[in-house]
Amino acid sequence: MSVRLVSLPAADAHIWLDPAVYTYVTAMNYPRGTEHTRAALWRDHIRRPGWSAVAAISSASAMDVLRPAYSRLHVHAPWAPGDRDVLVGVAYGYTGRPDQWWNRQLRNGLRQAGRTPAQIAAVADDYFELTELHVHPMAQGRGIGEALLTRLLAGRPESAVLLSTPEVPGEENRAWSLYRRLGFVDVLRDYGFAGDPRPFAFLGRRLPLSASPVPRQSPLTR
Ligand SMILES: CC(C)(COP(=O)(O)OP(=O)(O)OC[C@H]1O[C@@H](n2cnc3c(N)ncnc32)[C@H](O)[C@@H]1OP(=O)(O)O)[C@@H](O)C(=O)NCCC(=O)NCCS
Repeated sequence: MSVRLVSLPAADAHIWLDPAVYTYVTAMNYPRGTEHTRAALWRDHIRRPGWSAVAAISSASAMDVLRPAYSRLHVHAPWAPGDRDVLVGVAYGYTGRPDQWWNRQLRNGLRQAGRTPAQIAAVADDYFELTELHVHPMAQGRGIGEALLTRLLAGRPESAVLLSTPEVPGEENRAWSLYRRLGFVDVLRDYGFAGDPRPFAFLGRRLPLSASPVPRQSPLTR
């Protein structure tokens, strides 16, 4: 399967948002209908400082196995000019800021875990939030997730990247495997977001990806 990565322009959200959210709902196995609320949230995120998004684009002929979902994944734009181009993966994020809900949850969790204000500031003051990373199930296991993440994080001005992901027994799923492979370390484990019964982990690593994941004396190690 030939797949190429493209930066997603904010101005073209009307073209890529629906296929991207469809990929997300399918990858996460969320109930149909989730698309509507998530699309509004994703649209809101586009306006945040430092927002950036990357997609993996394939041709429908290479993805014949996706035929039932094909129309939901179709994109047609200057950055995906093929008549049969489909969006099979998406990643986006933005600069973390104290006025964001996720940042407040992070600070709250670190406080509950007994970190000092200086330790919390060292983690939560300067980072890129990896908000979403998803590959359609039929396209997983080919390196697309890693390629999306690597491309999204290239050249970021922040000193670290942080994310949250559901806890999984033994860390045994593709997301955990990918994050560990790329050097992500524990920031906070078993955190409960308000309104979600699942425990989550916050993971992070220093940027750029070519640097050692954790500097000596880093708050990411505590
Ligand atoms: C997590 C996710 C984005 C990873 O994307 P992916 O494309 O499957 O990830 P990769 O292909 O980079 O890595 C997956 C596997 O492919 C293997 N791989 C990497 N490059 C490869 C290549 N060129 N050829 C074949 N296999 C390859 C990796 O070794 C890896 O194996 P592992 O899972 O046994 O460790 C994707 O699985 C997904 O969308 N999952 C569901 C949603 C989700 O959990 N999102 C994250 C929420 S926080």
